[in-house]
Amino acid sequence: MRMVDIIQKKRNGKELTTEEINFFVEGYTKGDIPDYQVSALMMAVYFQGMKSNEIATLTQAMVNSGETIDLSAIEGHKVDKHSTGGVGDKTTFIVGPLVASVGVPVAKMSGRGLGHTGGTLDKLEAIEGFHIEMTKEEFINNVNTHKLAVAGQTGNLAPADKKLYALRDVTATVDSIPLIAGSIMSKKLASGADGIVLDVKTGSGAFMKTLEDSEALAKEMVNIGNNLGRHTVAVISDMNQPLGFEVGNANEVREAVEVLQGKKVDDLRRLSLELSSHMAVIAEIFDTYEEAYKELEKNLDNGKAFEVFRSFVQAQGGNIDMIDDLSKLPQAKYQVEVKAEKDGYVSAIEAESIGIAAMYLGAGRATKDDQINHAVGITLKKKVGDEVKAGEAIVVLHTDDENPTDSIKKVQEAYEISNSKPEERPLIHNVIK
Ligand code: URA
Repeated sequence: MRMVDIIQKKRNGKELTTEEINFFVEGYTKGDIPDYQVSALMMAVYFQGMKSNEIATLTQAMVNSGETIDLSAIEGHKVDKHSTGGVGDKTTFIVGPLVASVGVPVAKMSGRGLGHTGGTLDKLEAIEGFHIEMTKEEFINNVNTHKLAVAGQTGNLAPADKKLYALRDVTATVDSIPLIAGSIMSKKLASGADGIVLDVKTGSGAFMKTLEDSEALAKEMVNIGNNLGRHTVAVISDMNQPLGFEVGNANEVREAVEVLQGKKVDDLRRLSLELSSHMAVIAEIFDTYEEAYKELEKNLDNGKAFEVFRSFVQAQGGNIDMIDDLSKLPQAKYQVEVKAEKDGYVSAIEAESIGIAAMYLGAGRATKDDQINHAVGITLKKKVGDEVKAGEAIVVLHTDDENPTDSIKKVQEAYEISNSKPEERPLIHNVIK
C-alpha cells in the first residue's frame, strides 16, 4: 500500500477502506509516513469530507494507537461528560457531584486550559491542597467510595490524535467536522467510560459558530460513540455569552458551589440539570429524562449534591474550609470596574474576548508553560438582555494589576450595547441521540 494512492483517492472524493485508514494512522504514529504526506491527506479530507463509517474507523484507529483506560473495577455504569469548550463553563463541578448523588459513578479525566477557555484541573487547584495526582488504585477506590474522582490525563491516550492535531494546527485543517469529531471521540473512547454526554457549544464563543455546523459535529460524534459501543447523547448549548457570571478559577469554583447550595444562576443551573439528566438516563438510573430531571433537581435543592462535592474535595486533599467559607478562596488584590459607555441593552457578549481578557489578567495560559493565578478573574455584572446606563459597571475585574488596560479594552470590545432589547436565544438548542 502506498500513501500517495490514499491521498489521491481521498482527493478524488472516494471513500477510504479500513485497511487504508489503519495504514496511514499506524504509519504516521510510528514515524514511517512523513508530515507532508499526512498534511496533504488532511487537506483532502478537509475538502472532500468523510462518510460516517470512515470517521468511526479513523476514530478506532486513533484509539488503537495508544493505551486505553480500563474502568471495569468501578462498579456501575460509568458515564462521562465532555464539553467542546466554553467560557465560564463550570458545569463539571455541578454535574459530577449531582449525578454521583443519584449513584452514577463519575471517573473523570480532565485537562488543563490553554488560550481563552479554562481547564477543569486549573480551576480545582484554586482550592488549597487539592491534588489530581493519584495512582490508578486510588482513583478507582475514590470513585467506588465517593462516586466521583477527577484525575489528570495520564498514560499515552490516542497518541495518533496528538500528532495529527499538532499537524492540523499548522496546516489550516483543524476546522473539519470529521477530523474534530474523530479527535474528540478518540480521547473519550480511550478514557474508558461506558456512556458519554457531549455538550456541543454553539455561537460566537464556540468552535462551531453556527447551529448547523454544531449539529453536524454533534451528529457525527453521537454516531461514532454509538457505532463503537458507547451510548452517546449530545446537547447543543448556547455559547453566545459566557456561562454564569464568573470567569476565572477560584471565582468559578465559588459560583459552582453556590449553585450546589441552591443559588439560582439560571443558565448554569439549567444546563447542569440538562446534562446530568441525560447522564443519569444513560447510566440506567432512571427510565426517562423527565424523571431524572425531577430527582436531580431535588438533590440540588436538598444539599445532597453539595455533600458529594465536599467529600470529593476532602478525598483529593482540598482544604474544606475554603468550601465551607467561600471568602477563604484566593482573592485578587484589586477590583476594577469596567463601565458601559452608553445607555441601552446588552445585545451580545463575545465570550471568546471575555476569555482572553481573563487570560490577560493571569487566569489562563497564553503558552503551555505559563503559571495560572487562581485569584484573578472576571465577574459579569450584566448579561445579554439586561438594561444598562452609561457609567454603570458591566464587569468587575479581579486583578493583581492596579491598571489592567489590556483586559479593560478587551471587555469593552466584547460588550455590544444596542438601543432595543435583543431577542432571547434558547440556552439548549437541540439534543441529538
Ligand atoms: N478539540 C479536540 O480535541 N480536537 C479537535 O480537533 C478540535 C478540538
